[in-house]
Amino acid sequence: MTTTNEALWLASPSSALGVGPAPVPSPGPGEVVVRVRALAVNPVDAVSGFARRRFVYPWLRYPAVLGTDVAGEVAQVGTAVTSLAVGDRVIGFATGQERFSNSPAHGAFQRFTVLRADLVTVLPTGTAFTDAVVLPLGVSTAAAGLFQSDQLGLALPSADAVVREETVLVWGASSSVGSNAVQLARGAGYRVVATASPHNHDLVRSLGASDVVDYRDPAAVQVLVRALEGHVLAGTVAIGTGSLARAVAIARRTSGSGRVASAYPTPVTAARGLLARPHGVHVSAIWGGTTAQNAVGPAVFRRYLPDALSEGRHRPAPAAEVVGDGLAAVPQALERLRAGVSARKLVVTV
Ligand SMILES: NC(=O)c1ccc[n+]([C@@H]2O[C@H](COP(=O)([O-])OP(=O)(O)OC[C@H]3O[C@@H](n4cnc5c(N)ncnc54)[C@H](OP(=O)(O)O)[C@@H]3O)[C@@H](O)[C@H]2O)c1
Repeated sequence: MTTTNEALWLASPSSALGVGPAPVPSPGPGEVVVRVRALAVNPVDAVSGFARRRFVYPWLRYPAVLGTDVAGEVAQVGTAVTSLAVGDRVIGFATGQERFSNSPAHGAFQRFTVLRADLVTVLPTGTAFTDAVVLPLGVSTAAAGLFQSDQLGLALPSADAVVREETVLVWGASSSVGSNAVQLARGAGYRVVATASPHNHDLVRSLGASDVVDYRDPAAVQVLVRALEGHVLAGTVAIGTGSLARAVAIARRTSGSGRVASAYPTPVTAARGLLARPHGVHVSAIWGGTTAQNAVGPAVFRRYLPDALSEGRHRPAPAAEVVGDGLAAVPQALERLRAGVSARKLVVTV
């Protein structure tokens, strides 16, 4: 194990990110320490300024280490971990920012981080850290929305999933969350219809969607309602500005569960949910970190993803774009992310 560590610190909600020494972490019984080789940035990491950071993570203690997406080698194994060994090449969902964790040692943006063993996936031989690191938060958020009983409550994915006579709509399917939602819903046996910009339609089809519609098309709702005629809509994952209103409109005009899981856990989503309820539509707000506190996280990260990745049933998506090396490159990656990406995940090697 190492004797030194370094992290990208956020000293206070209004600070800039800065690299500095960090304590050498040690794993709890059900945890592993991972030597970080690649990390990915997410919109939540790119939130800046005192008010926004306090709004997104009101509980967060400072100084904090942000970041959720890690790939690297297991460097130390907790006493209760039997399924992982030192040297394993893994990806994992770092929970340092979660309310239940609230711990800089568990943040992604450092050289050595602590991961919960049940949120770690061993990578197939030959899968690059930089490719696979796109997955953790996208997978966790998509899985929370699709499979948690307080969200869409769908059947979990498995190698031998039955073909289901139900459809899942993924609005915003070329995003990180969306491209994993498409694949996980297909992995659970559902038919998938989706929205994305036209230049991403082939990509979204290649992930498993049978129909893809341009979300900017003013007739998108009508087109999707028509595509859903004669089908049961098991639920919708709504991602992207304007997605919730249109997902509710579609749920009202189709047969099925009436459930819509929104990627925006905001008061606006809650208010729209109240308005939709009398029309038989149930809106829930996803929080990607909740899979760490129920059976969905281990079911996906430990039991589904390892074989699904090695057998090509789930592939790292969206495609990685390596934008820098070293923790000091993360702020530039966040700046790039603020400018917007299309079917890309920005990755930094460490
Ligand atoms: N609640 C949670 O726990 C949680 C967790 C992760 C993310 N999120 C939120 O979920 C959203 C997606 O996150 P991400 O990391 O997946 O994003 P991302 O990959 O950075 O999003 C980029 C993609 O979004 C698509 N997009 C942009 N505007 C859209 C719109 N109006 N409708 C549909 N798609 C649109 C673009 O599609 P095209 O290029 O095809 O146009 C692009 O491929 C973000 O708002 C993020 O804050 C929430």
